[in-house]
Amino acid sequence: SPATQEHEKALAAAAALRWVRDGMVLGLGSGSTSAQFIRQLGAAVQQGLKVSGTATSLASENLARQVGIPLLEPRRGLRFDLTVDGADELDGQLRLIKGGGGALLREKTIETASNYLLVVADSSKLVPVLGDFPLPLEVVPFTLPWVLDAVQALGGSPVVRTSLTESAEQYRTDQGNLIVDCHFGQITDPDALGPQLQAIPGVVEQGLFLGLAKAAIVIQHGQPMLLKP
Ligand code: A5P
Repeated sequence: SPATQEHEKALAAAAALRWVRDGMVLGLGSGSTSAQFIRQLGAAVQQGLKVSGTATSLASENLARQVGIPLLEPRRGLRFDLTVDGADELDGQLRLIKGGGGALLREKTIETASNYLLVVADSSKLVPVLGDFPLPLEVVPFTLPWVLDAVQALGGSPVVRTSLTESAEQYRTDQGNLIVDCHFGQITDPDALGPQLQAIPGVVEQGLFLGLAKAAIVIQHGQPMLLKP
């Protein structure tokens, strides 16, 4: 049920908060599980915890500001001790599909600049094989028709994401780009597919996060379980 899922997200966020130490520079993820983490982190900051961070979306940045987490602007040399973020799917090797919330570009940027990526997930996210969740691409608008052709040539069914608020309007990312959700069925070789999608002109980022997650906290049977790749 949605109530159980929210509870699981809060549990995973609470377990992740125990990884945070005074003085850390944090990457702040996007989506509903990350929002739980940001709220709990804000409460700890109110209690005297000294941390700063950079958010992976405008939504998370606004939330972090609201709850009093000091924010850092992007700059040369900025690296993150720990990034905590959700995922749309993860497999046993901690390969991820991300971008369900459209924040994949900033997420991959921050997570590539992170010394440690900790994924927080409710029980529904862990899968044997990636691909039930459609793989998001962030796409420069001009290039869209040829990106759709290229995805189809790779065996995928591409769907341009629409905005929930303005029906029939195309969804726009924080950068003003489009999201194309690609249905590939079971992605048996994500290590091959990721680079093929990334090579399509106009694809700014693709939602397979490979070799980035160092650990995951996944709720199973109501308890946080720590997974490593
Ligand atoms: C944002 O673009 C995504 O990568 C999120 O991390 C992902 O959608 C997980 O969101 P929930 O925590 O809301 O499931």
